[in-house]
Amino acid sequence: MTTQVNTASGSPAVVVPVTVPVLQRMKREHTRIVSVTAYDFSFARLLDRAGVDILLVGDSLGMVIQGHATTLPVTLEQMIYHTTAVVRGTRRALVVCDLPFGACHGGGVAVMDAAVRVLKESGCQAVKLEGGVRISGTIRYLVEHDVPVMGHVGLTPQAVHRLGGFKVQGRGEEGERILADALAVQEAGAFAVVLEGIPATLAERITGQLTIPTIGIGAGVACDGQVLVMHDLLALYDEVVPRFAKRYLPQDMVLGAFNAYVQEVRSGLFPGEEHTFAG
Ligand code: KIV
Repeated sequence: MTTQVNTASGSPAVVVPVTVPVLQRMKREHTRIVSVTAYDFSFARLLDRAGVDILLVGDSLGMVIQGHATTLPVTLEQMIYHTTAVVRGTRRALVVCDLPFGACHGGGVAVMDAAVRVLKESGCQAVKLEGGVRISGTIRYLVEHDVPVMGHVGLTPQAVHRLGGFKVQGRGEEGERILADALAVQEAGAFAVVLEGIPATLAERITGQLTIPTIGIGAGVACDGQVLVMHDLLALYDEVVPRFAKRYLPQDMVLGAFNAYVQEVRSGLFPGEEHTFAG
């Protein structure tokens, strides 16, 4: 499907939305898939305009938006709220919403209810679930009922307490378990899988064995695509700074803008003539 839209300059442009089949083709054609997390309308719009393929409304919002130490407190209502805003700002990218901690515990029908709410109320196109072999039955149930699912294996942040922290997974023989998880997720019908916090060699092996795209975060360059948390990319969050999180803005850039505003208000430089209405 193509959509006619107006660009900022007013000239018509054709937007070809990213869909599940488009992502499968990108894997086959070795076109790297670009994904970033998004949590609101304004940033979704910028990321979409920049050409990001997948906007992931991650439950990382529990940490970078809400200030919790983990993603666990995030609720389904909150995920729907943020995803709705992201969808409003998106024309081209595929929008995926994380199912939060606890959403999977009720099994197939309960998870289906949560996923149906997400898709109907937010307008996004897919959900993401953390876990491998253990939740493959749930993934299968959702896919059989037409809910596109993205998997997530390796370092799964919802398991932070079981894992004993945000630690790299799959070193040495542990790698076989992560590979089995990724294969189970694919076998269950997921259209893509996030590989988080695993050795690059393992991610390369998994990417070579899967026919669905792998989207890496802290998993090296051989994955079919990459995802970053937007607040890491923009250096907006410094409570936890993972080694893999490249910062594309200087650390103090946004703080610098706020500092300048504070100074200008205090010194009377702002508002100037150009920001003032005549009588
Ligand atoms: O919640 C999130 O942002 C995620 C990404 C880190 C993949 O799951």
